[in-house]
Amino acid sequence: MTETAFIHRFEPATSAGSPPLLLLHGTGGDENDLLGLGKMISPASALLSPRGRVLEHGMPRFFRRLAEGVFDEEDVRRRAIELGDFVVEARKQYGIAAPVAVGFSNGANIAAALLLLRPEVLAGAILLRAMVPLSDPPKAELGGKPVLLLSGQADPIVPASNSAKLATLLSDAGARVDHKVLPVGHQLSQADVTLARNWIGSANAQAA
Ligand code: MLT
Repeated sequence: MTETAFIHRFEPATSAGSPPLLLLHGTGGDENDLLGLGKMISPASALLSPRGRVLEHGMPRFFRRLAEGVFDEEDVRRRAIELGDFVVEARKQYGIAAPVAVGFSNGANIAAALLLLRPEVLAGAILLRAMVPLSDPPKAELGGKPVLLLSGQADPIVPASNSAKLATLLSDAGARVDHKVLPVGHQLSQADVTLARNWIGSANAQAA
């Protein structure tokens, strides 16, 4: 792979028929963080798990921010394109189909940016505690791509109005958005795992 490559882990599929997952960790995580979650959500899927290339006080992220919830949008755009290029290369190297992104927090935000800026790269997305990544996004053509957005009712980082706006933005761009607000905060819960697993099973059944 070229110098655009991200440090990453790849685990091949254990049987055909499940979509590959692109696992995108939260701030301070790395390429190992979401492998367990990926296996719980879709046990037979190939897993592609890059480490974010931006460091904030030593903590990996997928793009720069100016403050919590205030993004350096030029960097969001640049990094989303870079991540899209990485996915294209990794698909060739590992021979996998377009993945479904599974992103948590900062990883969910870059996944939302990928949907808006490089929609062809993803087959769909599970966005866990995502926010609107760009204040003035381009008009994306999501052509019915399935998106599961799971938000926390008591999330101190993502206001309810922001996740609702993201759901509208993605549906207006043509995604099939399923938005659920759970009685939790920013952290993941068992309900996230269960809902994500059921959703990916039914999204996969619909695609088959
Ligand atoms: C972000 O910076 O992407 C969001 O504030 C979520 C986070 O990483 O805390």
